[in-house]
Amino acid sequence: MLKLEKVHTFYGPIEALKGIVIEIREGEIVSLIGSNGAGKSTCLMTISGVLKPSSGRILLKDSDITGLAPHKIVGRGISQVPEGRRIFPKLTVRENLEMGAFLRHGDFSSELERMFKLFPVLKERQKQYGGTLSGGEQQMLAIARALMSNPHILLLDEPSLGLAPIMVSKIFRTIHEINSEGMTILLVEQNAKAALKLSHRGYVIENGKISIQGRSEELLNDEKVRHAYLGE
Ligand SMILES: Nc1ncnc2c1ncn2[C@@H]1O[C@H](COP(=O)(O)OP(=O)(O)O)[C@@H](O)[C@H]1O
Ligand SMILES: [Mg+2]
Repeated sequence: MLKLEKVHTFYGPIEALKGIVIEIREGEIVSLIGSNGAGKSTCLMTISGVLKPSSGRILLKDSDITGLAPHKIVGRGISQVPEGRRIFPKLTVRENLEMGAFLRHGDFSSELERMFKLFPVLKERQKQYGGTLSGGEQQMLAIARALMSNPHILLLDEPSLGLAPIMVSKIFRTIHEINSEGMTILLVEQNAKAALKLSHRGYVIENGKISIQGRSEELLNDEKVRHAYLGE
């Protein structure tokens, strides 16, 4: 579904991604874990076209999308939920969702219905301003907004960050549910244990490079991963 081939990304003179190789197959949840500053968000922003790689290729279903503008990449079927959610606080819940469908011409009422079914709380609050929702509800809104474009793959950047424990489990259950319905997901998380438990495979990124990769059970049992990322 999605392939990164030796992707390098710079911030000015600083090389944040140093030859990232990642492959995500259709229907998978793949976790990308790593410490603060390792390059996780840079990796997602490079996939979504917000940052341009200096070299390497990004392929979606074998078609080269490297260097395309962000809206073109959304149009190809990659949708990102950015770190910190970034919903529109002064738009209503419903308007936020409509923004997610901005590239779809014509009717998107079936997508809206699907989102209200997946997140009943958003249906109840559809006329409320986004900014009045709780952190967990805003994260659900951000995920629902990203799904409104009917993507092939969803990129999630730290969806559990800053949420109360009960909301964290709810968000993880939601991610599982979306995947069960067929969505391919790349999940970036500091909460490595929960992410690996949920996903099929995982990659560890360290200082802009993939250092370990494997099936999630393998990573959960890996001595180095347990020590460095699972606090065991
Ligand atoms: N806008 C930026 N300008 C310069 N350096 C940045 C910028 N954003 C991130 N970086 C640097 O790139 C590296 C990777 O950052 P990031 O991808 O945000 O890490 P993570 O998401 O894993 O915490 C870090 O060293 C960070 O300081
Ligand atoms: Mg980050």
